[in-house]
Amino acid sequence: MDLPLLQRYDRPVPRYTSYPTAPHFHADVSAETYAGWLGALSLDEAVSLYLHIPFCDSLCWFCGCHTKITRRYAPVSAYLDVLEQEIDRVADALPAVMPVSRIHWGGGSPTILTPDDIARLSRRLSERFRWMEGLEFSVEIDPRGFGTEGIAALAAAGVTRASIGVQDVNPAVQRAVNRLQPIEGTLEAVDRLRAAGIRHVNLDLMYGLPEQTETAVAETVAATLAMAPDRVSLFGYAHVPWMKRHQRLIDETRLPDAAARFAQADLAAAMLVDGGYVRIGLDHFARADDGLALALRQGRLRRNFQGYTDDTAECLIGLGASAIGGLPQGYVQNAAPIHAYRDAITAGGLATVRGLVLSADDRLRRAVIERLMCDLRVDIAALADRFGVRAADFDGELESLIPLSHDGIVSVDGDAVITVPEPARPLVRCVAAVFDRYLATGTARHSRPV
Ligand SMILES: C[S@@+](CC[C@H](N)C(=O)[O-])C[C@H]1O[C@@H](n2cnc3c(N)ncnc32)[C@H](O)[C@@H]1O
Ligand code: SF4
Repeated sequence: MDLPLLQRYDRPVPRYTSYPTAPHFHADVSAETYAGWLGALSLDEAVSLYLHIPFCDSLCWFCGCHTKITRRYAPVSAYLDVLEQEIDRVADALPAVMPVSRIHWGGGSPTILTPDDIARLSRRLSERFRWMEGLEFSVEIDPRGFGTEGIAALAAAGVTRASIGVQDVNPAVQRAVNRLQPIEGTLEAVDRLRAAGIRHVNLDLMYGLPEQTETAVAETVAATLAMAPDRVSLFGYAHVPWMKRHQRLIDETRLPDAAARFAQADLAAAMLVDGGYVRIGLDHFARADDGLALALRQGRLRRNFQGYTDDTAECLIGLGASAIGGLPQGYVQNAAPIHAYRDAITAGGLATVRGLVLSADDRLRRAVIERLMCDLRVDIAALADRFGVRAADFDGELESLIPLSHDGIVSVDGDAVITVPEPARPLVRCVAAVFDRYLATGTARHSRPV
């Protein structure tokens, strides 16, 4: 894809980990609404659980996650007390002890938990939910300072997949983002996790960081390939200092420009594909025998708040401060400030502060956007048929795609099958945005597409 074209499309767009996107959630969806939704869940359908641990012991200046830096353990321990109460409260609102097929601990850094607290939290989950055979239990891992006892505790808790933050292995880049992580420590963590029986390993990489060059990216991807992870996530650094004030610590003059970002993303992707990885959607790569690659081949890849997934559950229960849940009726989000979350739970209720009830139109557009983000292809007529509307309802959107199609970003055939060609993959969000009815109405500012 040529650079001027790329620059023309380098406008902020949502990442579509949900549709409608989180900035459009509103306060009409309350804790009472959520309790009703939980109570109405179907008894025999497995649910997925997401637990948010919003603490880290040092701040990476690029961080876009909901986290708080703490040098003391007391706030973490106090948070766990509240999280356990929330687990009980949610479990009490459910119609039965529900089967669970997926658990994900994210953050922040769940690896800040002591081995005892890892055991305590997983025990509470196993007491209040029925863990299904073949349960996938994944945890986000910051390998810095995470030792063998913590790893043993994760393995004993039943963790099956570790998602490790690597970002970039180059010391100059690491200094520029305040994240010193010698590669030896990462290698050791991977070896120890595997030795402990946590067989699946994902590595998170980033491009577009300050001081990052193609050489640093190549070095990072080579080190990544040597660790033979099951999956790799390759995130473009989202520089949003108006939302994440600490990102102002990053020297903006040292950030790669649009052309350099694109070259870095392109290089990393080419190396990963050469190394035998299958490209998954916008920013994931998976070994051909991994569940994500299989889901892609079989047309059942999904996108949710954690990114790309082969999870089939219709209900994702979010637990913890800022956690987002997705239920058949719509979305819910917990209070993000830890004190507000704590106050809501200790007052005896749930911590929902906003959400969105899905309309029929939302569901249809969500399906269109999800297929585009996952398959880079969507059959509008087939989806319209499935949702009982006329394909002609999308005539306006198809017309809006004409300039994108002239630019080679999309192709639309006579049967309204929309395809994003491989070279335009990094711009798939721009195609998805054409189907986003809320985009024009919001005030949210997003990150750049590449
Ligand atoms: C919530 S972090 C959890 C992992 C763990 N705390 C760590 O950093 O090792 C998940 C991943 O999000 C990515 N990430 C964080 N901030 C980002 C940003 N501003 N833009 C793009 N990706 C980001 C990083 O790759 C990080 O590993
Ligand atoms: S990137 Fe990970 S370790 Fe760094 S501050 Fe964010 S959540 Fe914490």
